[in-house]
Amino acid sequence: MIPFNIPPVTGNESKYIMEAIANKKLSGDGAFNKKCSQWFMKNVKCLSANLTPSCTASLEMAFIIIDLKPGDEVIMPSFTFTSTANAVALFGGIPVFIDIDPETLNMDVNLIEEAITPKTKAIVPVHYAGMTCDMDKVLEIAKKNNLFVIEDAAQGMFAKYKGRHLGTLGDISAISFHETKNIVCGEGGAILINNPALMERADIVRDKGSNRQQFLRGEVDKYTWQDKGSSYLLSELAAAFLLAQLEVGEKITKTRLAHWNKYNEMFKEFEDSGMLKRQSIPEYNEHNAHIFYAVFATKELQQKVHQKLLADNIKATMHYVPLHSSPAGKKFGRIGSSMNNSDILPERLLRFPMYKDLPENVFEKCYNILKTI
Ligand SMILES: Cc1ncc(COP(=O)(O)O)c(C=O)c1O
Repeated sequence: MIPFNIPPVTGNESKYIMEAIANKKLSGDGAFNKKCSQWFMKNVKCLSANLTPSCTASLEMAFIIIDLKPGDEVIMPSFTFTSTANAVALFGGIPVFIDIDPETLNMDVNLIEEAITPKTKAIVPVHYAGMTCDMDKVLEIAKKNNLFVIEDAAQGMFAKYKGRHLGTLGDISAISFHETKNIVCGEGGAILINNPALMERADIVRDKGSNRQQFLRGEVDKYTWQDKGSSYLLSELAAAFLLAQLEVGEKITKTRLAHWNKYNEMFKEFEDSGMLKRQSIPEYNEHNAHIFYAVFATKELQQKVHQKLLADNIKATMHYVPLHSSPAGKKFGRIGSSMNNSDILPERLLRFPMYKDLPENVFEKCYNILKTI
């Protein structure tokens, strides 16, 4: 059986976990959390970075930091994970769904302005498969309309937009280290803050609404409850695991890109014959091979290929069900544009197995199955 994903293990994880145990400091904000934050600041070049329990937690934190109020609207693509919209609904906000661009499956930036109302507070571009929409345009619209930009960069590690790391483009960004991502620690995430005006509040929100971070820095002599917040720190054990992964993340990305290129070359003839469309990578992106997907010409074709792959023990898989059509999307959200692409493309999409130690025979196996269709 060829699984869809196997989380990478790179060598130093257990050594670092043993070090964390020897340090006798297992909660958040220990030496490994600090090393990971410093790694981000040095390599990703953000203003601040902190580890969190998940990307979901980072998104929730982001909406507390920007003080999302009941009735406030947040524009996002319909084709995304539940967490993007759920984080808005948790605070009584309204996710406003817009359609996706068929080329990248990222939000269609030409639809943002028509979805803006006096209630709009933020735009959330989701960097699907480590690719982006035209972020300059998103930032320009946000500036003109005084909106926050929160990047859902769950899948964005080691990918770039015009030479800049994903996660450093908006006011705040949320990253995932869930075991399905390129760099993992089981469950985990990071929040990056790029807007200096939000830094102080971010510290309070992260640490149960208290000014404990100021206390730890020696800026105040005691700490207490200051504002709303929650427990958004990551344990040192998970941070130790993550540091080992961050240190070799470039190498993992290169290996994944080599796999991605093999699929891409082999699938060209199926694109030429009209059976499917491969991912098209915008010129402004350096992607990270988080996903190799194809969009088939019809839903029936997708189903046929999917079944054949599964029958041959190759665990290909679909992705998100568009949120505007989900029960909670209908209950808590609003549709902000036509949904021509979101209504048809996700059900034609298939993701192929992708992980660091992908077996060499997978490309030929998939190719041979597609040849029989
Ligand atoms: C776009 C997007 N946002 C958020 C998440 C949630 O990430 P986590 O599992 O770290 O909470 C995911 C998970 O796959 C995702 O794909």
